[in-house]
Amino acid sequence: MNPASVGTSALLELRGVGKRFGGVVAVNGLDLTVEAGEVRGLIGPNGSGKTTTINLVSALYRPDGGEIRLAGERIERLRPHEIAARGVARTFQISKLFANMTVLENVLVPALAEFDRGGPRRALREIHERARRLLDLVLLDGHRDALARELSGGQSMLLQIARGLMLQPIRLFLMDEPFAGVHPTIKDTIMETILRANREEAVTFLIVSHEMTTLRRLASRVSVMHEGRLIADGSFETVVNQPAVLEAYLGG
Ligand SMILES: Nc1ncnc2c1ncn2[C@@H]1O[C@H](COP(=O)(O)OP(=O)(O)OP(=O)(O)O)[C@@H](O)[C@H]1O
Ligand SMILES: [Mg+2]
Repeated sequence: MNPASVGTSALLELRGVGKRFGGVVAVNGLDLTVEAGEVRGLIGPNGSGKTTTINLVSALYRPDGGEIRLAGERIERLRPHEIAARGVARTFQISKLFANMTVLENVLVPALAEFDRGGPRRALREIHERARRLLDLVLLDGHRDALARELSGGQSMLLQIARGLMLQPIRLFLMDEPFAGVHPTIKDTIMETILRANREEAVTFLIVSHEMTTLRRLASRVSVMHEGRLIADGSFETVVNQPAVLEAYLGG
């Protein structure tokens, strides 16, 4: 066993993960470790493999090689619902809400589906109460009877976040560009929701974003990808001054 891995509290670990699409190598021997309890930023120039990484962890794609571990368990061959059942939620940059269902129904549907599959027997009333509380947290409770398609882009992101937080227990929340094209006041709500879930429910976050100022306020540590690999990892201050990072951003 690698002595460096003994006694660490890695929640998510990728080792030598690869994914290609035809001739395009999107992720190329990626090593990435996220500790339990962190809010981690994932940055990198366009096309560096960030979304592909999120899709690999959430099992939308299966890696061509390498290992992905969640709290020590190999998960790279599991299916998306099995990943969700282990407490991994995600948002999509392009919202996958049920457009013709109400805001409240969108939050309830995944929890009710879990209920139907004989998952943890949470009382329906409890599920409903948590849904209302989460909608209140993301300032959407007043819109609970509106159709999801009536929401703005930012509100749709808030709804995706509330829906993800319905997972019980939730351990890891993967977010792909949650701030892109979002109104500044909604950005603040998203940030507060992330920090609160991190603080109060110990949810670990891995957040892909190009918005450095926002990410700097949220994440204690950032990982930088370039051409499918990790090229830097650490605090913002240490990472942004590394020549490899400057080169990756300016070189293209
Ligand atoms: N489904 C796919 N089919 C073919 N090529 C893909 C697919 N998904 C991603 N790629 C390619 O893989 C590379 C990495 O893409 P990815 O979307 O992961 O980058 P990204 O870091 O999320 O970029 P951006 O910041 O622009 O969102 C790119 O060259 C992209 O064109
Ligand atoms: Mg992307």
